[in-house]
Amino acid sequence: GKVAVLMGGDSSEREVSLTMSGPGVLAALLHGGVDAHAFNPAERGLHELKAEGFDRCFIALHGRHGEDGTVQGALELLGIPYTGSGVMASSIAMDKIMTKRLWLADGLATPRYVKLKKDQISRERCMAIPDELGLPIFVKPPHEGSTIGISKVMGYSQMQDAVQLAAQYDDEILCEEFIDGPELTCPILGEGDQAFALPVMQIEAEGGNYDYQNKYFTSTTRYSTGTLSEEKEAEVRALVLAAYQSLGCRGWGRGDVMLRKSDNKPFLLEMNTSPGMTSHSLVPMSAKAAGISYEQLCLWLLSQARL
Ligand code: DAL
Ligand code: MG
Repeated sequence: GKVAVLMGGDSSEREVSLTMSGPGVLAALLHGGVDAHAFNPAERGLHELKAEGFDRCFIALHGRHGEDGTVQGALELLGIPYTGSGVMASSIAMDKIMTKRLWLADGLATPRYVKLKKDQISRERCMAIPDELGLPIFVKPPHEGSTIGISKVMGYSQMQDAVQLAAQYDDEILCEEFIDGPELTCPILGEGDQAFALPVMQIEAEGGNYDYQNKYFTSTTRYSTGTLSEEKEAEVRALVLAAYQSLGCRGWGRGDVMLRKSDNKPFLLEMNTSPGMTSHSLVPMSAKAAGISYEQLCLWLLSQARL
């Protein structure tokens, strides 16, 4: 039957979806013989999917209204199976603070944090945070992706500006302890007890900041698999798998991790339930290292679509 590749949307990551992930997935599905069509929910109502006879959706949207459970909920109501996590896991994973609370409840390591409400950000409150978390601190809008609105605060004087930037995107602000060490990411495929991890990737961005620019527009960011000892690779895979299961994810996801230099301990940062799917994105690169081509990955994800 007809498959809609949902791409675009109205989040701050819409360009990534519309110009990179969406077209990549669409081309792979078409090449794999699927009757796939692009569909941008920012331009058309999702109810049109039904009228036009689509019987499955591949969600290649990122961020709000795509990765956060809202589109998933609409597709549930329309009765159209879709790829990736369901409503609750999508919604929790889109909120970095709720995610941390679940992980902490399940005994999974994540950096210490302070949550601020937008209407509570006084200069005094902001200035007290380095005393609680040390420096540097990552200040993040908890419901964004692709590093949007994030600052790395190096000193007290930068704290309030960073909080105000994050507050432009969110009603809550996440202030997070900085873990100094290599940045890792690990994709997970499947559901529940059947879920499994793909190879861990290490990311080395120019200047040490894996930000929006370095994610999508720089060719100097280095990505490698096989950088960890066998034992550490297994530990990180097991941690991210547990993190995925803790949130109740299904289909696929990608957990981001910092490996603390001082003692080699891994800390979970977040779970992405609709990861970037450019041909040079992290999940496709890791899958390739495991012998799974981009096209095979897309076809497999589609085969797992359900309500
Ligand atoms: N939020 C971007 C798309 C990612 O996690 O890959
Ligand atoms: Mg993310």
